[in-house]
Amino acid sequence: MGLREILTFPDPRLALKSTPVETVDDEIKQLIDDMFETMYVAEGVGLAAPQVGVTKRVIVVDCGPRGDDDQEEGEPLQPVEPIAIVNPVVAVKEGKISWEEGCLSVPGYTDEVERAAKITVEGLDRDGQPMSLEADGLLAVCIQHEIDHLEGVLFVDRLSRLKQSLVKKKLKKKAKEEVRA
Ligand code: NI
Repeated sequence: MGLREILTFPDPRLALKSTPVETVDDEIKQLIDDMFETMYVAEGVGLAAPQVGVTKRVIVVDCGPRGDDDQEEGEPLQPVEPIAIVNPVVAVKEGKISWEEGCLSVPGYTDEVERAAKITVEGLDRDGQPMSLEADGLLAVCIQHEIDHLEGVLFVDRLSRLKQSLVKKKLKKKAKEEVRA
């Protein structure tokens, strides 16, 4: 297939709960490849299958630096590679971290969200083999953000109730204006 369309808030499909993948077959591998391609073109650091309209438990993340521009001098390269996880489950959570998050499905808005600082995530890789990964910092945030999508949860759903209603009202208005334009 290739590039897929990214759904944006308030598309009701983003609120659906995704179902587990039974077999990592060619269709799922194609989905993973398409999700990476779509994510890179959109310049995101993560993408979940429901964001491209597929309610299956598949996520991709790549929090590593892209090219020279992203790396500040003297800063160590994050030992991070593109990661695809099928049926991801957070098995261990430690500590708390606040991060300014954004989402390809919520364009034009970022806000601080608190999540576990360090996690161990388990699932299947692109070959259908069991995998386990320890993550902290941006990678941990990113994986938890993507797993939220599989539950139909957006980062704006994690803001305070008051803030959430204000932000969602604004985003809905903006989306309506874009349709009219
Ligand atoms: Ni997102």
